[in-house]
Amino acid sequence: MSDQVLPVARSVTALRGAIRGWRAQGLRVGLVPTMGALHEGHLSLVRMAKERCERVIASLFVNPRQFAPHEDFERYPRDEAGDSALLAGAGCDLLYAPERSVMYPDGFATNVIVSDVSTPLEGEFRPHFFGGVATVVAKLLLQALPDVAVFGEKDYQQLLVIKRMARDLDVPVEIAGCPTVREHDGLAMSSRNAYLSADQRRIAARLNHLMHDAIKAAHAGGAIGVIEAETQRHLHAAGFTSIDYFAIRDAETLAPVSDLARPARILAAAWLGKTRLIDNMAV
Ligand code: PAF
Repeated sequence: MSDQVLPVARSVTALRGAIRGWRAQGLRVGLVPTMGALHEGHLSLVRMAKERCERVIASLFVNPRQFAPHEDFERYPRDEAGDSALLAGAGCDLLYAPERSVMYPDGFATNVIVSDVSTPLEGEFRPHFFGGVATVVAKLLLQALPDVAVFGEKDYQQLLVIKRMARDLDVPVEIAGCPTVREHDGLAMSSRNAYLSADQRRIAARLNHLMHDAIKAAHAGGAIGVIEAETQRHLHAAGFTSIDYFAIRDAETLAPVSDLARPARILAAAWLGKTRLIDNMAV
């Protein structure tokens, strides 16, 4: 951990003031939106932003609008001091940590809904989710107007939704995706991995191994539907309590595919007890 102190902005005025100063010096600005509980995956986003821009802002806001009432908003891990030290060590220049009332003042009445790419997969199982994400990310982009905003490919469908939103609304910000960072056994890093018991943590790594097996089977000419169904059976056998989806889809539209003629992506969401894990890879 770094003992550098990272400046923090808690209002849109303070955020824009800092950015105005940088712009006056001709500096490029990158934004890394986060909900905190940072790990190496988030820090890789900061490093990517820093390669592209002289100044990098990380936002920290646990966005209530992307959690359904039964989800983990209340217990989502929060540690601003720890996150701030990690960000400073990764080369971040400013933490933007707005209060809820800054993001959603009384009377807030706007929802950004991206149809099409939001609909399948996560959209089926978490119907509230992408509306909440698109709304908060649209606000963050407009508040900061960075040159580049960096998001993890770990949330692949989220990345597609944000790219579509920025394109459709002519938001003048480049949206960049950063490859998933994995633990030594292949488990995708996630703030929610902290919820896993030792036993669940061991089982969790099977998700990525089974994705690799499915990719091999698809390249060997196996029928996509059969591979998806068999992998779901293997996930149950490995100890996953429930599987929301395990699917091979068109990498751009997320439409179902029957072969690998176009670039495809394998995407999965599965439960270990009360913890939901997601992962994806290029096929
Ligand atoms: O991926 C996340 O951490 C969140 O969905 C995001 C993009 C910061 C929006 O709240």
